[in-house]
Amino acid sequence: MPTPLKNDRFLRALRREPVDCTPVWLMRQAGRYLPEYRATRQAAGSFLAMAKTPEIACEVTLQPLRRFPLDAAILFSDILTVPDAMGLGLHFVEGEGPKFERPLRSVADIDALAVPDMDTELRYVMDAVRLIRRELDGRVPLIGFSGSPWTLACYMVEGGGSKEWGKVKALALNEPAAMHRLLGTVTDAVVAYLAAQRAAGAQALQVFDTWGGVLSPAMYREFSLPYLARIARELKSAEVPVILFGKGNAPHLDALFASGADAIGVDWTVTLEDAARRAGGRVALQGNLDPAMLYGHPEAVRAQARAVLDSYRDGNGGSREGHVFNLGHGMSPDMDPEHVAVLVDEVHAYSAR
Ligand code: CP3
Repeated sequence: MPTPLKNDRFLRALRREPVDCTPVWLMRQAGRYLPEYRATRQAAGSFLAMAKTPEIACEVTLQPLRRFPLDAAILFSDILTVPDAMGLGLHFVEGEGPKFERPLRSVADIDALAVPDMDTELRYVMDAVRLIRRELDGRVPLIGFSGSPWTLACYMVEGGGSKEWGKVKALALNEPAAMHRLLGTVTDAVVAYLAAQRAAGAQALQVFDTWGGVLSPAMYREFSLPYLARIARELKSAEVPVILFGKGNAPHLDALFASGADAIGVDWTVTLEDAARRAGGRVALQGNLDPAMLYGHPEAVRAQARAVLDSYRDGNGGSREGHVFNLGHGMSPDMDPEHVAVLVDEVHAYSAR
């Protein structure tokens, strides 16, 4: 029998149940802003070596929890492990971010793709999940995650990051049937990947649709939203909630609220007051402090945290339930860990019921 959770605020908030204070975790809470992360990375040699060694992935997952009273841990890994396991050959170029050795260059490349085997090619991820659960010993829940089909397809077609995402948009426009076959295969892989993380012990699942917001509304409704909704439907389970995070998803919130997901993660381009009012209690909301607010001085960080908490309450009929505090996107390497401590403290103190 797994140890019962000592702190289940995060899971309770995702179910919109009462909590003693608003739970908080931060996207990219494990990373280069922490000196202990930089030391572990130096010793391991590379980011991928860290992610592919369960003991190191576990250590790095726990690092931010040793410093801050965060209410959830997130698996240390990357969204690009899935295309890597599909044979694209992931590597990281210093200062340039992720690259694939064999990006998708033709319809034939797309039709040759297969869903990777979770027990072999992605076993290191499941081993990390099992190890982290053991080491957490019920302190806080563990979040598993995946990229969204559209966001993974962006990297698979471009071969890396991009400003314009011209190749993947051209594929969607010129070869829509092939694009849908690609998104279908990637969705099958994402569902299998998240289900395997859940079976290994993940207690909540988050899908990162980082690049859905670069699409026009019509293209978003065709190439991102239906696949997000399929994931939410196929993973529906009362015990393990699904969070759909999307950078720039504000224009699509009404559709996302009806998608079947338990919670929607939003960035700072929408107020939580507006989002909560539109959600009308159908889902929990996660977000949405602009990560750059962490560059402010500590009193400014505290004031910004309070503003986010109050904005949610104002849109949610005066109640703070159903809110998970987070940033609207990930942290950056030059952020000050002291400011994170201040942020977490303010969220808990100010929202205490
Ligand atoms: O949130 C966490 O603490 C969990 C770990 C996590 C990482 N990547 C670790 C990581 C998560 C959830 C991700 C998801 C991810 N990876 C996304 C979606 C989230 C988002 O930011 O929208 C995307 C688009 C990627 C792809 C990716 N991985 C990029 C673009 C980069 C380079 C970023 C950079 O700043 O150089 C990575 C590498 C990566 N993934 C790092 C970390 C901590 C930096 C690695 C290092 O150099 O040490």
